[in-house]
Amino acid sequence: MPLDISPFQARRARLLQTMQAAGGGVAVIPTAPERVRNRDTHYGYRFDSYFYYLTGFREPEAVLVLVAGDTPRSILFCRTKDMEREIWDGYRFGPEAAQETFGFDEAHPVAELDEQLATLFANQPAIFHSVGYEPAWDSRIADALNRVRAQARTGCHAPAQIRDVRGLIDEMRLIKDASEIATMRRAAEISAGAHRRAMRATRPGAWEYEVEAELLHEFRRHGSQAPAYGSIVAGGANACVLHYVENDGQLKDGDLLLIDAGCELDGYASDITRSFPVSGRFSGPQKAAYELVLASQAAAIEAIRPGAGWNDPHDAATRVLAQGFIDLGLLTGTLDGVLESGSYRQFYMHRTGHWLGLDVHDAGEYKLAGEWRPLVAGNMLTVEPGCYIRPADGVPEAFWNIGIRIEDDALVTDSGCEIITAATPKSVADIEAVMAEG
Ligand code: GLY
Ligand code: MN
Ligand code: MN
Repeated sequence: MPLDISPFQARRARLLQTMQAAGGGVAVIPTAPERVRNRDTHYGYRFDSYFYYLTGFREPEAVLVLVAGDTPRSILFCRTKDMEREIWDGYRFGPEAAQETFGFDEAHPVAELDEQLATLFANQPAIFHSVGYEPAWDSRIADALNRVRAQARTGCHAPAQIRDVRGLIDEMRLIKDASEIATMRRAAEISAGAHRRAMRATRPGAWEYEVEAELLHEFRRHGSQAPAYGSIVAGGANACVLHYVENDGQLKDGDLLLIDAGCELDGYASDITRSFPVSGRFSGPQKAAYELVLASQAAAIEAIRPGAGWNDPHDAATRVLAQGFIDLGLLTGTLDGVLESGSYRQFYMHRTGHWLGLDVHDAGEYKLAGEWRPLVAGNMLTVEPGCYIRPADGVPEAFWNIGIRIEDDALVTDSGCEIITAATPKSVADIEAVMAEG
């Protein structure tokens, strides 16, 4: 499918307008470096999310420069064509084809960047970049700035301000456009299929990594480039380790399995968690805890609508969980007492969601002027309450080592929200039915 460059051009135009409204200047937005894994082997390359959001360009060694003003300009610096390197490493656009294909006003060899930056910075009021993110870039920007300063006697003046560009882009990234929503729906659909496949493949005696392989198989065969984050496949007590990554345990009859896994598609993350019985049938205490987390998630989803505060879904989920912990005999006291003392955190110690987009924990502030930010249509967030019951004095043994999280991805709509991961089985009946197919 040919690349539709219009969303990227529209984002550059908007950022240029915002920069101009903020007083004008030049933005420098590099993509991510390639990183060595060991000796001469690299990690799979992943572009920088800010750079990609504004360009659609996936090659390493590339930098976007935006010049705000009456005639705003987008300039790409990238690798030149190199037939010898292309035999070894594959196709590269080169400046000419990149300019044409991606719609930049200009494109130049990346080797010319440092020299050109000094010219681009001259007589500009401000430099916008990711201040402090990569020390090497801070120093590169400072070098170019100093070269402008060195020309003061020729009458040119150097930018008086260095500003962080990320805040401006974050505000844009918080509201997904139609092309982002389409990609995220597809990523969610692939991940939902992977969770169904994992449910069918789960049985007592299987290893966590065997189930992980089913997820990866399903991601990749539908064109996802990589998992959006390290998959968690956690049986039994492992489910109570929030960031469990070993995935090397054997699944036991009678245990629950928690899977937190989502694919990345064309840069966009999906993020789904399901918890289900290894045997295919929930036991009594497992079902009681599961229904509680499910009810808390329903309450959180109900709270997602334009105008609601960022924290409203978390408050709604926490209230249901706290009451449930009392009802199940895990905690004593009143609901208000449990909420006030925070004793519920023994079993629910994380937050109920995060922004989702190019990054799994996506860009964007959660508070504005000290208040939880109001949700608006186009926001994408996760809804992921859970309960994690470690063996402890006073905790009924029937609940020991139950770890449950239920996580979906929600798009805020004009009237509420849409769960884009809804094709992932979630009710007790649906999970047991899909597992029975295995
Ligand atoms: N999988 C990362 C998260 O749920 O936040
Ligand atoms: Mn999440
Ligand atoms: Mn997750």
